[in-house]
Amino acid sequence: MNVSKPLSSSLSGSIIPMMQLQGKEEAALWLPLQQDWGNRWCTMPQRYLSFCDRIDAFETRASDVFVVTFMKCGTTWMQELAWLLLNRLDFDQAKRSYLMDRSIFMELSTIRDRYGKDSVTVCDQMSNPRLIKTHLPAQLLPREIWLRKRKIIYVARNAKDVVVSSYHFMKGVGHWEGSIDEFVDEFMKDRVMFTSYLSHFVDFYRMRNEKNIFFVTYEEMKRDLKQVIERLVKFLDCQPLDEIQMEQLLKYLSFENMKSGEHSNPTRYFKARPDFEFMRRGIVGSYKDELSAAHREALDNWTQNYLNEYGLNEFEIFGNI
Ligand code: A3P
Repeated sequence: MNVSKPLSSSLSGSIIPMMQLQGKEEAALWLPLQQDWGNRWCTMPQRYLSFCDRIDAFETRASDVFVVTFMKCGTTWMQELAWLLLNRLDFDQAKRSYLMDRSIFMELSTIRDRYGKDSVTVCDQMSNPRLIKTHLPAQLLPREIWLRKRKIIYVARNAKDVVVSSYHFMKGVGHWEGSIDEFVDEFMKDRVMFTSYLSHFVDFYRMRNEKNIFFVTYEEMKRDLKQVIERLVKFLDCQPLDEIQMEQLLKYLSFENMKSGEHSNPTRYFKARPDFEFMRRGIVGSYKDELSAAHREALDNWTQNYLNEYGLNEFEIFGNI
């Protein structure tokens, strides 16, 4: 494995490492990912460099489930759902404790200096079943995930809504000072943390039929959460839910309920601007009244040009947005 020379600065004055697998035999073991990772990009803070080897070598367990997303794709929503399914709908515990303490964000220590703990070690020490959150792209995930085919839940969201939601989040937590227009430009240039976004979700979309991968979109969760839950129950090998349990779960996961809950709404968990709100709008299409026409068009072209390389289009992945 090689961490390449930093190529430019990211928003927080950090650098951009890019990792590549080296060695033929090793690459062959990365099935179904038999591709050259050398053209994949991920913008990360400087501190990531002192964690990447440990993340790469992270020891997984058979019962592990990884929630993998780009930021602002509905990670928290999916984590709460998956955590409840893995913990026999323990709503009492869910109401009493922050999700962030029940489902650890693996690389948090690399991006947040105030965390105070080593998030990789905390993941290591979690009890089973571990539900681990990460925003890292496929090529930077612990390699055992691929070697041992650990379960991955991947949530994607249309790029325009991701940009808007990311802008509000980054601004709220003090990682971005500029305008939304500047943010969109930086996002498309892969200079925002965790970008490049398009390769992030396309890699998982292309693996969506692998047995250990559950691919879903935020848009699908909004359209028909019940059907997503039924699919996820099977993927996680959980007991099927009866009608009452399904109703309870749907109610618990509603935007309004999670927003009003003391622990299901993570807003207070962040040291952020007074007007920061984590549970912001919770809709498909907030880009429509938040992005300029020029930026909507620019993002559409940027997305479609990339998807064309893989014979894909936005509609088949996200539906109407
Ligand atoms: P918006 O900023 O568009 O409102 P993440 O958890 O990946 O950071 O994603 C956050 C986004 O998911 C925010 O989007 C947030 O409002 C939305 N979200 C969180 N919980 C939700 C829920 N129960 N229903 C719908 N959207 C939800």
